[in-house]
Amino acid sequence: MRMNIDWAARRGILVAAGVLVLAAVGLLAIHATVFAQHRLHSAHEKEDRNHPWMDAKLSPDDRAAMVLKEMTLDEKIGLVHGMGMPGWPRDVQDPQPELGNGGAGFVLGVPRLGIPIIQMSDAAYGVRSSGENGRYSTALPANVAAAASWDTTAACAYGALIGKELRAQGYNMTLGGGVNITREPRNGRTFEYLGEDPILAGTLVGNLMKCEQAQNVIGDIKHYAVNDQESGRNEVDAIIGKRALRESDLLAFEIGVGIADPGAVMCSYNAVNGDFACENKYLLTDVLKKEWEFKGFVVSDWGGTHSTVKASAAGLDNEEPLDEFFGAKLKAAIESGKVSQAELDEHVRRVLRAEFACGIIDHPTRKSVVDVLGGLETARKIEESSAVLLKNEGGVLPLSAASLKSIAVIGPHADAEMISGGGSAQVDAPGRPNAGWQAHVWFPTSPMKAVQAHAPHANVEFGSGADVGKAAALAKKADVAIVFVYQWMAEGMDLENLTLPEGQDELIAAVAKANPKTIVVLETGTAATMPWVDHVSGVLEAWYAGSDGANAVANILFGDVNPSAKLPMTFPKSVEDLPHPKLVQPEPGQSGEAAVMKTGEAKPTFSVNYDEGLKVGYKWYDAERKAVLFPFGHGLSYTTFAYSGLKVAGGRKVTDVSFTVKNTGSRDGAEIAQVYAALPADAGEPPKRLVGWSKVWLKAGESKEVRVPVAAKYLSIWDAGSGWKLVDGGYQIMVGGSSAELPLKQQILIK
Ligand code: BGC
Repeated sequence: MRMNIDWAARRGILVAAGVLVLAAVGLLAIHATVFAQHRLHSAHEKEDRNHPWMDAKLSPDDRAAMVLKEMTLDEKIGLVHGMGMPGWPRDVQDPQPELGNGGAGFVLGVPRLGIPIIQMSDAAYGVRSSGENGRYSTALPANVAAAASWDTTAACAYGALIGKELRAQGYNMTLGGGVNITREPRNGRTFEYLGEDPILAGTLVGNLMKCEQAQNVIGDIKHYAVNDQESGRNEVDAIIGKRALRESDLLAFEIGVGIADPGAVMCSYNAVNGDFACENKYLLTDVLKKEWEFKGFVVSDWGGTHSTVKASAAGLDNEEPLDEFFGAKLKAAIESGKVSQAELDEHVRRVLRAEFACGIIDHPTRKSVVDVLGGLETARKIEESSAVLLKNEGGVLPLSAASLKSIAVIGPHADAEMISGGGSAQVDAPGRPNAGWQAHVWFPTSPMKAVQAHAPHANVEFGSGADVGKAAALAKKADVAIVFVYQWMAEGMDLENLTLPEGQDELIAAVAKANPKTIVVLETGTAATMPWVDHVSGVLEAWYAGSDGANAVANILFGDVNPSAKLPMTFPKSVEDLPHPKLVQPEPGQSGEAAVMKTGEAKPTFSVNYDEGLKVGYKWYDAERKAVLFPFGHGLSYTTFAYSGLKVAGGRKVTDVSFTVKNTGSRDGAEIAQVYAALPADAGEPPKRLVGWSKVWLKAGESKEVRVPVAAKYLSIWDAGSGWKLVDGGYQIMVGGSSAELPLKQQILIK
């Protein structure tokens, strides 16, 4: 496992030397800015709400323009940078740390003008840092799990819950909304993202963030862009062709931003094609602000700002978590004319506009008690629609409690807990303090107890698996063995491979040998390789299952819930089959700020060349004709579905796809019906792409006609000369229940 200690990782570590240098070099300048703000907030002034722009009937643009006119230069500077983060040494110099809310950062408001402090918290799968603040947060299943639901309603419920809990805890801005495409499944943050397909990921993050923001928090989509690995994330240059960039990684952001209209987009640590993302004009201004008409503000990732003039000109609006470049240095640049007043005003206007548009001014936060029970229920339901049944040989599942006399529950922690994903996404487990950066955090949701509750008459015995022989013996005498295995991952590191750690492959193999009725439940945040797959009867991918994960999993295992999720990413047979079998790592001397700043101007020190281009995930395996372990879009149900009657009406604006799905089994269930397209040969695309889907709920025996309108953009290619373009020619539309099983096909001509 490669660890990467960087800005965020250093949180909580005292860097005394850094403090001294700062004290010596920057104290005067820093204090000039901070002190100005200090005066603004000296008496914990209540925001003065008696202003014409407090009229909620006015548009956010008008309101922002009115406030902007009243602001002094210092007040403006105050809005474009953060004021520190708990645990970071500079806090020592922040005269008012008490103004923060314990989150990742805060931006001072302007009380005399009624502008509140922006209180930011990480909130990928729940609100972070509740432990150290003495609060409680629900852990939803990992974001990749939400993607596996393919369900915009579930994504909305996911976002709404986080939005409510943020506000209850005193925050008015989220730092969630990760949507980097899974080009590299070993990326330690894969669990925070929404899989390998841009249309699926973008649609889901858009719905998630739209509903989160509807709770009156400033929404955020991140990490823009191509932050597709954690190894050397602060130093790496992601080299990628423009067409591949636009059609894959950026398309996910484009769709997400279009649906959610988020208040903020966070630029990432890495460079893209030579320029760091937070000073990359192409990304921030040309594409995000101009082409996509993004109306919010660009916030830097924590420590991701590298310059004043260049970053400001490129379109960065707000530096976090401090004011190294957008504090005194920006003020000096304005005064000397290196940065124009108009450019600063544009940054400030965007921050103000987001505050009005997202409702944080009209709806000040009021702390309250998090709805713990409601949160558990939402988390369970989302997990029930997100756990993917990968294998079910001979219908081993669902288990019938009545006919089972003995069950072996095996695996590390399976008696008591389930694992969660780490880093700034980490939600603290109830009843426990914050475990620290990159600690394994297990949630008290007990697989063993959940299984016992479903099979009260069976003898349920537990074995941790630490002793493989004992575990096998336990499995041998049981009617069925359920093995819970895990792969922990976190921000700031990548996995070396997709092999389950701690000898869990050997454990599963031994248990399966002892009892062929073995069911494996995976708690992973990404794909896993499964050398034992042919020897077990059932495999359920539960992901990081959240606060009530065990009950959700047991409900699926025992058939109270019919699984309906499908993989949002390919599970390869081996890491040898990935586009880059070996992870690209920085060489010695290529890491750290000194290396980045060697030339005086920030420059990445090494590069990852994404030469697979458009071929991300299933597009790669299709194009390279590589067999996979489980394909993108795969997922089983306890019932069966049949597809018929495909009708396609091609069009230059929308292509209408309709077909019938029938539940041909004896249980009610939901099918995620997927629509793929193969573009005309001269488009030069991978063999097929997902262009739409519909999650259809069907009673046993029921049929429904499903309509999936496909927007022209989803059938288009991005051309360097002309932008998005629908190529004339023959398209094949394919429909079915997985990328590898598409029984309906029709050829259409689009001219
Ligand atoms: C992460 C961001 C996070 C920020 C604040 C960074 O290290 O990359 O995702 O929002 O820290 O905690």
